[in-house]
Amino acid sequence: MTSQLTPVLTRNWGDDRAWTRAAYEAQGGYGALRKALDIAPNDLIEQVKDAGLRGRGGAGFPTGMKWGFIPQDNPKPKYLVVNADESEPGTCKDIPLMMASPHTLVEGVIISSLAIRAEMAFIYVRGEVLHVVRRLRAAVREAYEAGYLGDNVMGSGRKVDLVIHAGAGAYICGEETALLDSLEGRRGQPRLRPPFPAVEGLYACPTVINNVESIASVPSIIEEGVAWFSGMGTEKSKGYTIYSLSGHVKRPGQYEAPLGITLRQLLDLGGGMRDGSELKFWTPGGSSTPILTAEHLDIPLDYEGVAAAGSMLGTKALQVFDQTTSVVRAVLRWTEFYKHESCGKCTPCREGTWWMTQILKRLDGGEGRDGDIELLLDLCDNILGRSFCALGDGATSPITSAIQYFRNEFESGMHTPSWELFPPERSALFQAEEVLA
Ligand SMILES: Cc1cc2nc3c(=O)[nH]c(=O)nc-3n(C[C@H](O)[C@H](O)[C@H](O)COP(=O)(O)O)c2cc1C
Ligand code: SF4
Repeated sequence: MTSQLTPVLTRNWGDDRAWTRAAYEAQGGYGALRKALDIAPNDLIEQVKDAGLRGRGGAGFPTGMKWGFIPQDNPKPKYLVVNADESEPGTCKDIPLMMASPHTLVEGVIISSLAIRAEMAFIYVRGEVLHVVRRLRAAVREAYEAGYLGDNVMGSGRKVDLVIHAGAGAYICGEETALLDSLEGRRGQPRLRPPFPAVEGLYACPTVINNVESIASVPSIIEEGVAWFSGMGTEKSKGYTIYSLSGHVKRPGQYEAPLGITLRQLLDLGGGMRDGSELKFWTPGGSSTPILTAEHLDIPLDYEGVAAAGSMLGTKALQVFDQTTSVVRAVLRWTEFYKHESCGKCTPCREGTWWMTQILKRLDGGEGRDGDIELLLDLCDNILGRSFCALGDGATSPITSAIQYFRNEFESGMHTPSWELFPPERSALFQAEEVLA
């Protein structure tokens, strides 16, 4: 493992008009597609499997294995769906990737479709990011003009069509089966599994759903080779990935590095904490992953390392908070988000997130009641593992982990408002005069 940055997906982000086909081709873009057209589909799947690419959307499921689940003897059409709904608090890697270099994703979509033998692919993109929707559509238009997409991909006789679909802006539509319902034109709510999407997904046909970063990583594997990719990272978490550093740090942003780098190393690369700041707590992969503290600065940021520390790598959204931040207030904000985004399909999540918000509001305002902490933990216990989808589980993570590490702050909520202990203006990232300047 090395602490060096490994710009692969981010390599061309600073190039002049990097989002255009001309700029992408000038730095070798669509070379991997040319190569892939000479490789048998099963061998493409094997290469992605051997490289050890794991899904970058949160769960880290092996991508090649997922592709291998598509039953090729099924006569129905096969579909590839790219999950570009990116809405998890703190997660902000897919949107810059699509904005800066949409052709990386388009090339990945074409190669992945060839591998699973899908003639139709969709990118389901979060509707609020209209600028990204426009950029993707422009890239798709350019790819059709160049013959990379269409009925006869680069004269190969293979067909791949690609549709950009804008969602209406609901966090639950990032859950893969809710996404499929939404794509089919229904209200986005998770589906019961089995059947799994690989067997009955979009329009009840075999479907692969992958995150933007997972699919965008495919061209690099084909271009540079399995050994190159699997030579980076750690034993079970191979390759490079984008870490999104945000919060009380000097230089927030996207840091592409081998899996297994530590937060301490990333903070060094990011110029450290802002002046006068000490690390208090952080999320390894968005708000649905249990928070960690300064004692975890040196854990390897790979799937196994973060799990061993009691959390999850998730989307690698490293939100960093300093000593000026009220844990109770941060957890309240996240819980309000889950309450708002709960789709309402199952009782533990629909009702539980509402009740947790009420209790956290009391604690935030210094009006907590005896037994509130136990009540919160009891609610979490009734949601975790008893909800229909992972949104419910995720909603409990910030609460249980924050109580584990900062119980005293929740106890202070019995008598003192958080804004007296931690005045919000001290933790604000930008002071009013800076914003107005
Ligand atoms: C509430 C919820 C929201 C999700 N949002 C996203 C998302 O915005 N993007 C994403 O790729 N995966 C999201 N996921 C995970 C997907 O269900 C799925 O695991 C992922 O798209 C698979 O892609 P991967 O194997 O390439 O990681 C979400 C899951 C849940 C439960
Ligand atoms: S856990 Fe929440 S988001 Fe998921 S199905 Fe139940 S109510 Fe909907």
